[in-house]
Amino acid sequence: MAPQASETVLLLARSAITAPPQKEMERLRRVLAARPGIREALFAFSEQGSPSLRQALDGLVAAGCTRLVILPMLIPAEPNFLAWLTRTLTRWRSKDERPWPVVEVAPLLPDETSIAALLDGALAGGRAELALTSAKSAPDGSLVPAQKRRVLVCMGGPCNVAGAEVIWGHFRNEQERLSLRTSGDGCMSAKTSCLGPCNLAPVVQVWPEGTYYGGVDEAAVDRIIAGHILGGQPVEDLAYEPTGKKQFLRAPEV
Ligand code: FES
Repeated sequence: MAPQASETVLLLARSAITAPPQKEMERLRRVLAARPGIREALFAFSEQGSPSLRQALDGLVAAGCTRLVILPMLIPAEPNFLAWLTRTLTRWRSKDERPWPVVEVAPLLPDETSIAALLDGALAGGRAELALTSAKSAPDGSLVPAQKRRVLVCMGGPCNVAGAEVIWGHFRNEQERLSLRTSGDGCMSAKTSCLGPCNLAPVVQVWPEGTYYGGVDEAAVDRIIAGHILGGQPVEDLAYEPTGKKQFLRAPEV
């Protein structure tokens, strides 16, 4: 379907940690903005990168956007993407009193004709020959990290379904913004496979204490950073101690 004249379109990519992919997204955004029928073109990242999907949506809702088309930049397509996006936006929407736009999602993969044109264009484009050399280069050295804290964000199946990708992106954006690597004891972070208490998803664990946090959302990440990472004190009402008994998600304190 051709875009309607008043359409606002958001290009959604997974993540951009450095400046070049950020610039590339801006280039794609400009190309899209110049297309007929596009009123406004934006981009955002579902994981790490700025603006995050949450920030972009916040801006659109504040601006009174009434209809939004999300164009996922995910190749190959991820079968769970639509379910993930629906759950995540439903969660954000349920905590936001403002009127939200109608949100549509463009197909994850273009049809055969469009993808053929895309591939033809890529193959016909300027190519860069890789400079492969057989000369031995000196091995690169590495600094052993001095940071004492580690934040593990579980990316196991149940945590992923519960929104771990957004939690990871929010934490990494805040880690960058607040310079957490070099603040206080220094903090690094990593994605992990299942951390154990899947029914408390999404789960985050903070070392060296090994504190488990369950049902983590963006507000919980902010509190964990302020209280635990920077303040040194585990956030008790979000934490789950190993009691030897089954535990269930508690309702967050307000
Ligand atoms: S999948 Fe996250 S704790 Fe099991």
